[in-house]
Amino acid sequence: MITSQDIQKILGKYDLGKLAIGTLGSHSSLNIFKGAKEEGFRTVCICKEKDAIMYQKYPLVDELIIVNDFTELLSPTLQERLRKLNVVLIPHGSFTAYLSTEELTDSLHVPMMGNRQLLHWEANRKSQEEWLRQAGLRLPATFKSPDDIDRLIIAKLQGAKGGRGYFLANSPKSFYKKADEMIKRGLLTKQDIEKVHLQEYTLGVNVYPSYFSSILNSDVELLAMDRRYESAVDSLGKIPAQEQLEIEVIPTYTVVGNFPIVLRESLLPEIMRMGENVQKKAAELAPPGIIGPFCLETVITDDLKIFTFEISARIVAGTNVGIGTSPYAYLLYGENMYMGRRIAMELKEAVKQRRLQEVVA
Ligand SMILES: Nc1ncnc2c1ncn2[C@@H]1O[C@H](COP(=O)(O)OP(=O)(O)O)[C@@H](O)[C@H]1O
Ligand SMILES: [Mg+2]
Repeated sequence: MITSQDIQKILGKYDLGKLAIGTLGSHSSLNIFKGAKEEGFRTVCICKEKDAIMYQKYPLVDELIIVNDFTELLSPTLQERLRKLNVVLIPHGSFTAYLSTEELTDSLHVPMMGNRQLLHWEANRKSQEEWLRQAGLRLPATFKSPDDIDRLIIAKLQGAKGGRGYFLANSPKSFYKKADEMIKRGLLTKQDIEKVHLQEYTLGVNVYPSYFSSILNSDVELLAMDRRYESAVDSLGKIPAQEQLEIEVIPTYTVVGNFPIVLRESLLPEIMRMGENVQKKAAELAPPGIIGPFCLETVITDDLKIFTFEISARIVAGTNVGIGTSPYAYLLYGENMYMGRRIAMELKEAVKQRRLQEVVA
């Protein structure tokens, strides 16, 4: 376990006048790098050769480090190089996709914006649910055993990405039948089914509000909102019901892109309170709580109830729709504010106030 003392020691050797912002070259890196440049930071990108074209076409990176695989972030030599460059890492979805929670908390000896302790709360669906429920959010019901299923549910795997292998069922019978089919088709294993998470399927539209928890200002800002464009589920409406039945579609939720949205204004107060409460609870679970960006994954029903089914305590790619300006960032900051820049702003202010150790872990 890397302690805050360890990180402080590393920061002690940093040249804070030359602090650089670094991240893995994917997900929301352009958002992060653009923001970093606009706030006057140097930028460092750890990137795969095949993706380097992005940073030639959008020249936002001062130091491009090519790796074969993102797990090379664990290499002591690479970490030494990052420390020499005075890098603060900004974690995004690819960090948790390529590295385990343990690797991130125990083996990454480079300062990273955020709260490493919270990663454990985020890591599995049970503890996440506990966190969100205790924060007073409304969650879809969960079912302990397939035999309890009495309504439409979504069956989720532990740590699955993009909903691959998820399926819907509305009774114990349909659950076991679908599970069998999925196993036969090689989409799931018996072990997956044993560990499956059964959640009430909430019929409604998906809304993903993104917040910024500022430790320096003790405030939670609502900065962005998006919805996702998911393949294949968003294309099902293009096929008539008859054909859907015939080909026995199993919806998958691979995110292909995002749309910006603005919410009915009457829903905003609750969305704001949700963000506040999630941070308040996080501060109890793992002080000082969330540091920087986070996002709630919600479904809003036709009676305007907001259900939260997941949290990401980091920047989400949906904030990329706000690069430049988004309505919610505009309301707070005027032109030209977005998550990547807000992150850099906080780091810059932290250096100025000599409080950098409070925003990195
Ligand atoms: N309880 C739910 N009700 C309705 N749709 C859901 C529910 N949970 C998840 N989904 C849909 O499934 C997708 C993937 O689920 P999610 O829990 O976010 O998994 P992942 O871990 O892959 O991000 C979501 O984007 C959403 O469209
Ligand atoms: Mg999700």
